[in-house]
Amino acid sequence: MNHREQLAEHLAFLTELGIDGVSRDPRWRRAAVAPGADPVERGSSPAAVGRGVPGLSEVEGSRAEGETGSPAGSLQDIRADLGDCTRCKLHTLGRRQIVFGVGNPKAALMFVGEAPGRDEDVQGIPFVGRAGQLLTKMIEAIGLRREDVYIANVIKCRPPENRNPEPDEVASCEPFLFRQVGAIAPVVIVALGTFAAQALLKTQEPISRLRGRVFKYGGARLIPTFHPAFLLRSPERKRDSWEDLKQAKALLDASEPQA
Ligand code: URA
Repeated sequence: MNHREQLAEHLAFLTELGIDGVSRDPRWRRAAVAPGADPVERGSSPAAVGRGVPGLSEVEGSRAEGETGSPAGSLQDIRADLGDCTRCKLHTLGRRQIVFGVGNPKAALMFVGEAPGRDEDVQGIPFVGRAGQLLTKMIEAIGLRREDVYIANVIKCRPPENRNPEPDEVASCEPFLFRQVGAIAPVVIVALGTFAAQALLKTQEPISRLRGRVFKYGGARLIPTFHPAFLLRSPERKRDSWEDLKQAKALLDASEPQA
């Protein structure tokens, strides 16, 4: 694909997201940050962000270490601890392989989805099916590549017929996600859909009430947004997701040391 075709595809995607104009003004990229929000510094006190800013809420998220409170360890350690997991019934229900996670182990931006689907189960890589292709476009729309970020799921094995994960499955698997978050120590976590947001934030609130807000999550910021599979069914909500992604990008940019 030449540059002209690439640009045409990018613009078509932005149009698909509901964006009707772009600007060269750098302030445009930061427009999603609520006025008055303090910039985030990696590793700094999280209390700064959102202080007194309506629309930015502050809650403590769940721990970023394992359920036991033990240190996260490296991603390799976590994968080794997971092993050929038989902790929940999903290992008997037709999973082909464990889908651990993919991407940059030092990513500043981490995406968390729900559970592998059929394509992910076959390939062993999260978000490679239709929803994954949309996620890849969303990542590229904020000027990043898939290999810049880290992508994981709450559940590492495919539920049969892509049914929702069950509470005991989430309970068995989420400690590994918490450890992945601890190992990567991202600046921003984007929780894709209800299951990811609820597991990470330890809440029962639906995604419709969680999105549009930014949560403290240890040293990171957590942005709940719609799951790409939902966006495929409800494209009119892509615009909301775009706002969430711009917010994520603005927080990432604000965390970078100024030249
Ligand atoms: N949906 C998810 O939540 N995760 C994947 O990896 C693929 C689809």
